[in-house]
Amino acid sequence: MTRIPLNHGVGHMPALGFGTLIPDAALTITATRGALEAGFRHFDCAERYGNEREVGKALQEGLAGGGVAREDIFVTTKLWNSNHRPERVEPAFEASLDRLGLKYLDLYLIHTPFAFRPGDDQDPRDQNGNVLYDRDVTLFDTWKAMETLVDHGKCRAIGLSDITLNTLKPIYESARIKPAVVQVEAHPYLPETELLQFCKERGIVVLAFAPLGHGMKPGLLDDPVISAIAARVGKTPAQVLLAWAVQRGTALLTTPRTAARARENFDISRLPADAFDEINRIQIRQRLNSVVDTGVPGFIPQAR
Ligand SMILES: NC(=O)c1ccc[n+]([C@@H]2O[C@H](COP(=O)([O-])OP(=O)(O)OC[C@H]3O[C@@H](n4cnc5c(N)ncnc54)[C@H](OP(=O)(O)O)[C@@H]3O)[C@@H](O)[C@H]2O)c1
Repeated sequence: MTRIPLNHGVGHMPALGFGTLIPDAALTITATRGALEAGFRHFDCAERYGNEREVGKALQEGLAGGGVAREDIFVTTKLWNSNHRPERVEPAFEASLDRLGLKYLDLYLIHTPFAFRPGDDQDPRDQNGNVLYDRDVTLFDTWKAMETLVDHGKCRAIGLSDITLNTLKPIYESARIKPAVVQVEAHPYLPETELLQFCKERGIVVLAFAPLGHGMKPGLLDDPVISAIAARVGKTPAQVLLAWAVQRGTALLTTPRTAARARENFDISRLPADAFDEINRIQIRQRLNSVVDTGVPGFIPQAR
């Protein structure tokens, strides 16, 4: 299993991560269990996904069952937009920790760089349906509160999500504790090459979400280049896409919902150099998520 060192000097992140953005509570438990059994040791959660309790339940079962220790798993969760005010950061972190049933987190991310009106309403809107942003807190104010969490020892590393290179640079330059990870949409149609280069030079891990293009069809899973390589190397298109992501030095998040798919997505191997280069030459460009522009996620289930 590929593991990527973190710049904080506090261990490694398994490159293959299981994402928990699953709208159904029961499915969250079975899918997380299936991922753990398939070998996934990296779990990506978020306050906003509304299912930290269910993920925590599946992880606790895995830990109680023996064979997997807390130090063997890498758990991330994220601070939501309505908790960016510095005084809200630690309570939000503690609430997530409590729902997950854990004593510490391996990684805590600012979910998006957009601050929404502070409070318990995760999706504050005006009468016209426009998002209510909070203009009285900066991303750096929030970052300093994140650094305090590391100082307090309950969180090993901190980072950002849904961030552009232009927004990342000033945080990187001013930070006392540098971001260890940035989580962004990345796949062959959105390689984020410049961001990846910046991060590699500074030891920041790029954690790619939507490595399968959210499984949308038509899309990456039936792209002719990917399908031809899959046939040539005897792997599935999903396995080719995940292998490409690891081979270019990113970590990734994938969300197999069944045990069989979890085993498939965990079973990846290095691509031949010509296949890797062929994927790098794909010219199609497509961003699936506008969250980097607005802070409003496109793939959050509206009702549970
Ligand atoms: N930071 C953010 O704003 C943000 C945004 C989105 C996601 N994320 C994170 O990233 C994680 C990954 O989500 P994603 O949508 O990007 O995951 P993904 O793995 O790229 O896409 C998931 C979709 O792919 C399908 N799929 C999974 N494995 C497959 C396989 N082997 N063959 C064919 N189809 C397959 C799934 O179908 P089935 O449902 O049929 O299994 C599902 O529809 C999320 O869970 C979350 O943790 C973060």
